[in-house]
Amino acid sequence: MTASPVLSRDADGVRVLTIDRPDKLNALNRQTLEALDAAFAAAGEDPDVRVVVLTGSGGKAFVAGADIAEMNALTAIEGREFSLLGQRLMRRIERLPKPAIAMVNGYALGGGLELAMACHLRVAADSARLGQPEVNLGLIPGFGGTQRLLRLAGRAATLELCLLGAPIDAARALQLGLVNRVVPAADLESETMKLAAQLASAAPLALRGVLDAVLLGGECGIEEGLQFETAQFALLFASEDMREGTDAFLAKRKPQFQNR
Ligand code: CAA
Repeated sequence: MTASPVLSRDADGVRVLTIDRPDKLNALNRQTLEALDAAFAAAGEDPDVRVVVLTGSGGKAFVAGADIAEMNALTAIEGREFSLLGQRLMRRIERLPKPAIAMVNGYALGGGLELAMACHLRVAADSARLGQPEVNLGLIPGFGGTQRLLRLAGRAATLELCLLGAPIDAARALQLGLVNRVVPAADLESETMKLAAQLASAAPLALRGVLDAVLLGGECGIEEGLQFETAQFALLFASEDMREGTDAFLAKRKPQFQNR
């Protein structure tokens, strides 16, 4: 039996998933995509997991893209299946009922940037390089990159990244709104875990409400989106955590949320 290409560890409500193919810069082959899909499904269902952090092994790469050696031998039908496998994983991450943070510790290229963009927040090391270099291989992004990059950074930046295929540095990615924070490489883990800890102690039902309202509400028109927001807002009045949060504010104490 071969070892799983995805490592998992838990600490205080935070599940850290690490893609572990450092000799191939954590490139996404089918086995890794399937292992990630299973890992995110399990994290989504586990009530003890409040936040997921995703990163790559080794000091060099988050993920350097879909596995080029594996893609090289695919037929068009298999290429379609490969794209759908990747897109299904990205959609699973995006629709996770709890926050997912990409800890971008190096190259995030092609499928690697697509993976980071499917997460809800992105913290990048100042040494990271991000891009959609598929045109250099005679390809285009196939795991949702043309669509998520467009929604995150707009048409001009998307066309620039996808047409030219040249990677950008973390500072430029921050400027484009492609990452939320850039920190010195040495502080990446501590800064990301600080953010994760903050989310792990927040009210899980409220976090889920935000994710649903922004992601699902954002995919329809303003009228439906506003109605969806109201429905999520109203639903939270049925939660004990909403009573606890407002009680704690009024009593000038720290809230203790129970995920109820
Ligand atoms: N797929 C398969 N193997 C990869 C890989 C990838 N995407 N990226 C790197 N590797 C492998 C290399 O082949 C090499 O393996 P060997 O030691 O066995 O030769 C190893 O990882 C180390 O890589 P390099 O020697 O190339 O490292 P470097 O420091 O010289 O360069 C790099 C680093 C600039 C990231 C370079 O590896 C690179 O350009 N990688 C490919 C990036 C890319 O094109 N990604 C997009 C893939 S297509 C895609 O993702 C499609 C999609 O949307 C679904």
